[in-house]
Amino acid sequence: MLKLFAAVLLLAGVALAVDNYDGYKIYDITARNAFEKQFLLRLSGNEAYDFFDLPRSLDAASRVMVKPEDQEGFEHLLEKYNVNYLVINENFGESLRKEQEENQSQRLMNLRSAGRSVSFKAFHRHAEINAYLDELAAAYPSRVSVQVAGKSYENRDIKTITITNGDGKTGKNVIFLDAGIHAREWIAHAGALYVIHQLAENFAVNSDLLKNFDWVILPVVNPDGYEYSHTTTRMWRKTRKPISSACYGTDANRNFDFHWGEVGASSYSCSDTFKGETAFSEPETQLIRDLLLSLTGRGKFYLTLHSYGNYLLYPWGWTSALPSSWRDNDEVAQAGADAIKSATGTKYTVGSSTNVLYAAAGGSDDYAFGVANFPVSITMELPAGGTGFNPSTSQIEGFVSETWVGIKAMAQKVAEKY
Ligand code: ARG
Ligand code: ZN
Repeated sequence: MLKLFAAVLLLAGVALAVDNYDGYKIYDITARNAFEKQFLLRLSGNEAYDFFDLPRSLDAASRVMVKPEDQEGFEHLLEKYNVNYLVINENFGESLRKEQEENQSQRLMNLRSAGRSVSFKAFHRHAEINAYLDELAAAYPSRVSVQVAGKSYENRDIKTITITNGDGKTGKNVIFLDAGIHAREWIAHAGALYVIHQLAENFAVNSDLLKNFDWVILPVVNPDGYEYSHTTTRMWRKTRKPISSACYGTDANRNFDFHWGEVGASSYSCSDTFKGETAFSEPETQLIRDLLLSLTGRGKFYLTLHSYGNYLLYPWGWTSALPSSWRDNDEVAQAGADAIKSATGTKYTVGSSTNVLYAAAGGSDDYAFGVANFPVSITMELPAGGTGFNPSTSQIEGFVSETWVGIKAMAQKVAEKY
């Protein structure tokens, strides 16, 4: 009995443990040559180091978070190999606490003042996001509908919203947009909400975008991970299905059945890039698969929002070879980058995933393109805020409205072509 009690306590302790990130440091490392880049790539294989960003270009710094007990060894290693680094945050926990407080007060303010469950002044919880979708369907029943596409592992409703111009024509081509495959990339979820807001609530201005296309938008692919990143571990990336007693979650963007596991994915269940026990082991990826396949033929543009790094990436992610129709993808992505550049000056890098970022198989973009036959398939990596994944609440609106400029331009280009 006592033993059982202790075990229950222990379990409760584990379940309630909140990662506070006290004393965690964040480093920027600039590789001076290909050799040093290779060294960083090898370091990133060590699970102790959380690489937020590991760009292929020598111009861009890599960013990595290291917990207190690993810092001495980490710095020692860099010094031994004479690699330059900069500590950009000495105590990530402290910054996060302040930000969480700010987000909380902005959320509550919105709830008191709002006609809607979400704003672009705070990061909202999954329930608020779902409530917002339902509010739109109720407010614009002739143009907007909401579907429960399925359930997450922890039984949350995963909803899609379909936005049309209400002309009643069926079988139009479709733009499918999702966000939040990765839990911690909160600005991506906000970006999808802003697109929804524009198409549904600013219809008069944006009706052109709905003339020949219906939009299907899934703003929170991975609600279990998203909630967990709010309540417990801010830097959580994966889904939440337990794999072993110690390790939870699969990297949903390594779990699609297209060259699954061939490159850039881990077989180790504790890894942040764990490919899953099988392809499509996760209810969340099965759900996107089924949606994409149901849209084959009508689906012309698949856009998936991530953060961070300012990239517009197209296939392939599993090989450095380019698909024969890469120019169509390049043209669309370039239109997005150009529009953003002239609107705000923000630069995006355009190219194939493998060539400008890194090789990683099993991504949703490759699957949409290679299997579900979407002729244009793009991963958009929104800008970094704070130390990367944590923009301040005051940055949200600027980021998502800038993102919308790019998405609009890409949708227009797609509409010209298909
Ligand atoms: N940052 C994204 C990830 O690691 C990029 C995905 C690009 N697409 C790909 N199929 N590798 O998931
Ligand atoms: Zn991501």
